[in-house]
Amino acid sequence: MSFETITVKPLTARIGAEISGIDLSQPMGNREFQEVHDALMEHQVIFFRDQPLSVDQHKDFGRRFGDLHIHPGSPPPDGHPEILIVHADKDSKRVAGERWHSDVSCDTEPPMGSILHLWTVPDAGGDTLFSSMYAAWDGLSDRMRAYLDGLTATHSGEQVYRGRYNSEQYDDAGRVYPQAVHPVVRTHPVTGQKALYVNRTFTTRINELPSEESSAVLDFLYNHCEKPDYQVRFKWRPDSIAFWDNRCVQHLAIWDYYPQVRSGYRVTIKGDRPF
Ligand code: SIN
Repeated sequence: MSFETITVKPLTARIGAEISGIDLSQPMGNREFQEVHDALMEHQVIFFRDQPLSVDQHKDFGRRFGDLHIHPGSPPPDGHPEILIVHADKDSKRVAGERWHSDVSCDTEPPMGSILHLWTVPDAGGDTLFSSMYAAWDGLSDRMRAYLDGLTATHSGEQVYRGRYNSEQYDDAGRVYPQAVHPVVRTHPVTGQKALYVNRTFTTRINELPSEESSAVLDFLYNHCEKPDYQVRFKWRPDSIAFWDNRCVQHLAIWDYYPQVRSGYRVTIKGDRPF
């Protein structure tokens, strides 16, 4: 694929590219938008450097790709319900995204993409890993692909979110967290490629299998999805941005920098029902 308005530097042969030659604080022209979208479709996760976006500029950038998603649990900053706060410091007991996942896959229509802007990063560490679920699907044997085709899995928010955000100001008693059934292998609505769609955080079982068999198959698939061969590892700097396609990518945030601060906002874009 050739690009005229942006520069696209692949970071691995399978996943990830760094984009330069664009100022995301400015409205994108149609050609620029199309090229950023094409780069995302080709590389599944794209990275930008030196983009000191305000919260409104961040939301405007996200809105070019679709309506913004509101998180089912995480309390947003005042006046910005579409923002997910990503923050860790010396008082943190946990951080967002510590286990492999695709964002909010427990939703009936899970988010198509997520755009994370970090402005404070630790001196070292705090990288994010991204794994290509196209590559994971392609890496299975024909026998295993035939076995998985047509199976569905349950994804649940309850075991992930219940109590997680409780504080003196906020209590989730009475809140119902989403649960959904999705195909184990989904077809990307734009590229037409197949991607594995089960993850350690939200998936609870494969519905058509007995419980023990479901657990064994899921364990195998999780380990398979997390192989370094399918990954790119992103090293953050202040005002870096990562934009990933949740339909074909899982990610993991590494918390190896305690007690240092890592801080930013995520905008998440609504998606469609997986098929
Ligand atoms: C997340 O959105 O899961 C957090 C990713 C990160 O903090 O790197």
